[in-house]
Amino acid sequence: MTENRFRQDFPVFDRKPCVYLDSAATAQRPACVIEAEKYFYENMNANPLRGLYELSMAATDAYAEARSSVRGLINASGDEEIIFTRNSTESLNLVAYSYGLNFIHEGDEIVTTVMEHHSNILPWQMVAEKNGARLIYLEPEMDGTISDEELDRKISAKCRLIAVGHVSNVLGCVNPVKKLAQRVHDNGGVIVVDAAQSVPHMPVDVQDLGCDFLAFSGHKMMAPFGIGVLYGKRELLEKMPPFLTGGEMIEYVRLDGATWAELPHKFEAGTVNPAGAYGLKAATEYLLNVGFDHIRKTEDELTSAIFEGLSKMPYVHICGSSDPLRHTGIISFTIAGVHPHDIASILDTDKVDIRAGHHCAQPLMDYLGVGNTARASLYLYNDENDVAAFLDSIGKVRRIMGLDA
Ligand code: ALA
Repeated sequence: MTENRFRQDFPVFDRKPCVYLDSAATAQRPACVIEAEKYFYENMNANPLRGLYELSMAATDAYAEARSSVRGLINASGDEEIIFTRNSTESLNLVAYSYGLNFIHEGDEIVTTVMEHHSNILPWQMVAEKNGARLIYLEPEMDGTISDEELDRKISAKCRLIAVGHVSNVLGCVNPVKKLAQRVHDNGGVIVVDAAQSVPHMPVDVQDLGCDFLAFSGHKMMAPFGIGVLYGKRELLEKMPPFLTGGEMIEYVRLDGATWAELPHKFEAGTVNPAGAYGLKAATEYLLNVGFDHIRKTEDELTSAIFEGLSKMPYVHICGSSDPLRHTGIISFTIAGVHPHDIASILDTDKVDIRAGHHCAQPLMDYLGVGNTARASLYLYNDENDVAAFLDSIGKVRRIMGLDA
């Protein structure tokens, strides 16, 4: 079986050979991203946006270039609509604290889904509790589909905010963001999209989708840890108060108050992460160079091969759709009689890396009635050799647990 040609771009596979199937948790980094961050520290390291000397201005320019490249990736209409954060969680909390607490009122309804990651549930529980709003959960079919009837039942004229994951980190299904955006816009409300699992894997166009806010993390798209993005529509960001206050987010501070800096700086308090942003720019370029068509094709083919292999093991249950093409490269599964942590530990002895647990989606685990699952998740560097090793290892699990002869 031929090796994936992009695999050689990732130094970790040379140093620590493994079958890496946990990219939904964090992706591996190509050499160009690691080099970009190193280049920043070796050639531009100064605090950006402050210094009037060459090094600081280089850092400022690098940071601005990174913002422009992210704007291009998601087709925002302006660089000022891109706020750098630490990760998706911080981006979603920014929206909840700054927009939710100030523009969602008593009696309003917030609609989300039972399949959200905790980071797209807890901020809305907080807003609902503090402001007396009602939090309503859309319930999908077992294949992840959220039916139109469910939308009719749960989205009323009182709905002022919809918070939805673009792609579920457990089921891999793609949620109907465009349709949800239309529904909430008809009410004069806003949609907040957790795109942590979509931006790394498919083209995402915030204008076409009709997003008001969209959050994602750099580390799941091969960028350094500690850099994330919040996209927000300019007119919304302009009317929102700052989330955090401190250095560089002000226009003027007096002893009795302050005025705020222009977008995007109003939302970037304190020293920012220009090296991470520079790495994110390199990751964006790498991603676009590989191309989303190629990424989707690779992940879909490998998911299909995994489905075919697992279909021969009647004790394996795959969560979500029976169609591999509706999984965005995410396969959550259980093995009858074996705890998912044991599955992951047995696979680890074969150097096959998967995740096991509740995947920060406990309400979905309860809804599916599974408690925990094992999860394999694919990315552009995986290949048929990885699939063969995974299936081989899975085939041994029940025997090692003493359940089969
Ligand atoms: N949210 C990440 C995952 O699904 C960590 O694994």
